[in-house]
This record gives sequence, structure tokens and C-alpha cells, in this order.
Amino acid sequence: MKKIILGIETSCDETGLALVLASGGLASPKFKVLKNLVASQIKIHEPFGGVVPNLAKREHLKNLPILFRKIGGGRVMEKLDLISVTVGPGLEPALWTGITFSKELRKKYGKSVIGANHLEGHLYSFLLPNRTKKIKAPTLFPAVALIVSGGHTILLLVKDLKTWKKLGETRDDAVGEAFDKVARLLKLPYPGGPALEKLARKGNPHGIEFPRPMIYDKNFDFSFSGLKTSVLYYLRDLGYSHQPSANRVNVKKSLNPIPQTLMANIAASFQAAAIEVLTKKTMRAAREFGAKSVMLSGGVAANKSLRTELKKETKKMGVNFLVADQKYNTDNAVMIAAAGYMAYLRKKKYPLRANGNLEV
Ligand code: KG4
Ligand code: ZN
Repeated sequence: MKKIILGIETSCDETGLALVLASGGLASPKFKVLKNLVASQIKIHEPFGGVVPNLAKREHLKNLPILFRKIGGGRVMEKLDLISVTVGPGLEPALWTGITFSKELRKKYGKSVIGANHLEGHLYSFLLPNRTKKIKAPTLFPAVALIVSGGHTILLLVKDLKTWKKLGETRDDAVGEAFDKVARLLKLPYPGGPALEKLARKGNPHGIEFPRPMIYDKNFDFSFSGLKTSVLYYLRDLGYSHQPSANRVNVKKSLNPIPQTLMANIAASFQAAAIEVLTKKTMRAAREFGAKSVMLSGGVAANKSLRTELKKETKKMGVNFLVADQKYNTDNAVMIAAAGYMAYLRKKKYPLRANGNLEV
């Protein structure tokens, strides 16, 4: 069975459209990427230091028809078998733009639409074409999957491609959110994660001893808000920042510019603390549940130090390490086409309604 799928992603600040040729059953699905378009809204949200939902909505509405023409427009629709659209989780006004667009295409071209779960998109991203060697399904499972993004930090025990159980998740901030907030404290450009990683390369990861929240707790939950606050207090104690009012991080009133070496050491030490917690807990889950693989996905999986650390630890333990190529870690529509195909194979029907809190 072969299906040409149009993926549509509008859950946050990237408008994504992709054409994917999907084949194979649940035991060994295959994906060939025919087109992958992403229109980033970085410039729009940059002045606000974070995603503004209504601006995101406006940009998606503007970008969707442009990307649709770019991908081939009506000509492509003739060959198409299925449209897969993200229904959640994410920003509901943003999600609705993609859902409404998919319904318009369904009406105009008579194609079916399937709802896709954004988190399943991340989870399945290791199935996308990849430079690393292929591993056969029977030797993959059980697996432990770590999904790390701007909105989520989740650890799953994956039995096969359609069965998994949540082991734990963050109790407050997602790790990507912590990267973004610390980047803001350091006045790095938006989006913070990649900028912080770049700066961390110049710093000493052992320079400052930031806390490793919940690292020794028996459960598989995470907490990153205290780590972010430690960075804030560290800056404040050195006279580089005022204490924030309530929960808002106040960067505007900083007193002196932070010296470059200190900035780099803070970035490197914060990153080391976050990565150590993620790695330790993931590897403990892998040992406890006899995992044959560790899967890493989501925007923060683009972080090279995190990938390197998990690669090293999985090698030591003698298990597979599965991660998508860089371009499929941050939000894209290829993974949404893949998630839609998997939902179709699993006979999983998500309602075509925006669900901001959809769970994996
Ligand atoms: O999956 P994603 O693109 O969107 C969501 O579903 O949230 O993840 C975005 C998150 C942001 O918090 C961003 O700062 C973070 O991923 N991120 C990174 C890196 N690249 C993106 N965090 C750390 N290091 C990176 N290289
Ligand atoms: Zn995402």
C-alpha cells in the first residue's frame, strides 16, 4: 500500500506543508519526503521575546496559501491520497488555521483529511529518512522515548509503534521553555534555545553549580522552573538583574551588561544541568524497563550536546539511540504526514477540532 500525504502543521510558530510518500504496514512503515516547506515566523515574534498567539494565527493564514502554491497547488491534489493536519496540542487559534485550511482542500478537491497529534509527530520522527543505519523493528522495542520541546518534556515507554505508556513529564516548565527563558535573561536573540546552545560552546559547563531538579527522585517526572530561577538569582546576586515581580522574568531593568565570559559560563552550566537531568532519568528508565532503544525527539533534540550525551550513554549500555535528522526535530509537516499515516494504520481518529491540550 502506498499513499501520498499532504502534511499541514500550524500548532505554534512554524507554518509547515509537506508531501510525503508513505508505504508499509505497522511493523515497518516507510516514508519518502517529496517536499518539505517550513515558513518560520521568527522575525514576527522576535520583538515580543515569545510566540504571540494572534500574530501566529495571522501569519499562518497568510503563509498557508503561499506554501500551498509552492508545493504544487491543484496539480498536486490530483495525485494526493490523504491530508494530515495537526489538531493538537498547541495554540488553538493557530491550530484552527491549519484545520480550516485542510477542510477547504477537502471540499474543493474531494480528499480525505485525518487529524494528527503533534506529539506523535515528534515521537515518530525517528522513522523519517535518516543518515544513521536502519534498525529492524523487532530489535527496537521496548523503547524509552524522550520528547523535549517548547511545550513538553515527556518520557514514554514504547512497546511498539502503536502502544506506549507515559512514564513521566514535567511538573512545571518544559525544558525548551527553560532554555528560552534563560536565553531571555541573558538577552540572547529569540528563539532562545539555539542561541543559548551556541553561546554555551564558549563557556565552561562546570563553571557554575546549578541545581539538577528531581534528578534522584524515584519517579520519571521533571521540573525545570527552579533551574531557571537559580539562573535568575545567580544574576541578581551578582548585580546583573533585579528580582522578578511575581512569576515574570524582568530583563529590562538589568543594571550592568553581563560580561561575555560570564554569559558563556552561565549558558554552558545551565545547559549541562538540564542535559544531565534529562539524560540520567532517561537512562534510568531504559535500565529499569529493559529498553532496547532510546528515542529522542522534539525541538530540544536539535541540541547537539543533548544528542551527544544520550548517544554516549546508550552506547555504554549497548542499546540503540534513535533520533531524526536535525531538520525534523523542530516543528515541520513531514512528521505530521507521518503521524497521520500512522494514525490511519492504527485506525485512530482524532476529531478535526483544535485541542490545545491533546495528550500523547
Ligand atoms: O518542537 P518545537 O519546534 O516546538 C514545539 O512543539 O514546542 O520545539 C521548540 C523548542 C523551543 O523551546 C526552542 O528553544 C527549543 O525547542 N530548541 C532548542 C534548540 N533548538 C530548538 N533548545 C536547545 N537547543 C537547541 N539547539
Ligand atoms: Zn513541536
